[in-house]
Amino acid sequence: MGTPLKQSWPPAQHDAAQDDLSRRLIVRAEGLDKTYRAYGVAVPALVGVSLRVERGEMLAIMGPSGCGKTTLLNCLAGLDTVDAGSVEIAGTNLASLRDAPRTDFRARTMGFIFQNFNLLPVLNAVENVELPLLVLGLSRGEARRRARAMLNAVGLDKRERHRPAELSGGQRQRVAIARALVNEPAIVWADEPTGNLDSEAAEEIMQLLAELNRTRGQTLVLVTHAQEIAARTNRIIRMRDGRIVQDTGAPPE
Ligand SMILES: Nc1ncnc2c1ncn2[C@@H]1O[C@H](COP(=O)(O)OP(=O)(O)O)[C@@H](O)[C@H]1O
Ligand SMILES: [Mg+2]
Repeated sequence: MGTPLKQSWPPAQHDAAQDDLSRRLIVRAEGLDKTYRAYGVAVPALVGVSLRVERGEMLAIMGPSGCGKTTLLNCLAGLDTVDAGSVEIAGTNLASLRDAPRTDFRARTMGFIFQNFNLLPVLNAVENVELPLLVLGLSRGEARRRARAMLNAVGLDKRERHRPAELSGGQRQRVAIARALVNEPAIVWADEPTGNLDSEAAEEIMQLLAELNRTRGQTLVLVTHAQEIAARTNRIIRMRDGRIVQDTGAPPE
């Protein structure tokens, strides 16, 4: 057994500039590599991907099917691990956390929106939205109050008793958006959020996301195939074969 490392505080060299950067940057990913191995075949899904996202940005990740968009999102959110490189979210290195604190960190700082909504079918709209708050330990009354306010913000206050099966695709995605945003996470990840919607509902959902980004300063990272959707964002990142090949608005180094 070695001698336990002594923690010194404050650190000998306190780097104020670095501190400021970590507050402004919500995502700092450097040199991410990820290769899937299946059936004896190595599939490189991420190759040297670096990405910085500032608070309040709304950005779209685009690229052909299989280019690594979902893998990137999952690795940034700590749902999947990388082979090399590092990810910091709001200054925290996810890989440094054990499972339980990582899950807790994710619940407090991130919201998720999926293509297939991922709502619980037996719960009605307001119950789906309040679930993350109950998991975080809020009282039932407070969770219900906030869930109602959030459903109101996505224009679904008249549907709070409806179960997912009793809602249209666009309405289901509104419930999912309310659920993702109800605990005011620092960042929201959306993987093809309009992929299962007709073009009219897709347009409404994109308007809603853009409005929530503008009015609540919500940082949004979304994966999409749709050019017209990406056009609503402040920044587009294009991927090909596991690499970022274009970034229209990386923050300054
Ligand atoms: N669990 C997995 N096992 C093996 N290969 C995978 C797995 N997940 C994704 N891949 C492969 O990694 C590459 C990137 O996949 P993905 O990130 O899902 O792409 P996209 O979201 O851009 O369509 C693809 O070639 C895919 O086949
Ligand atoms: Mg995908």
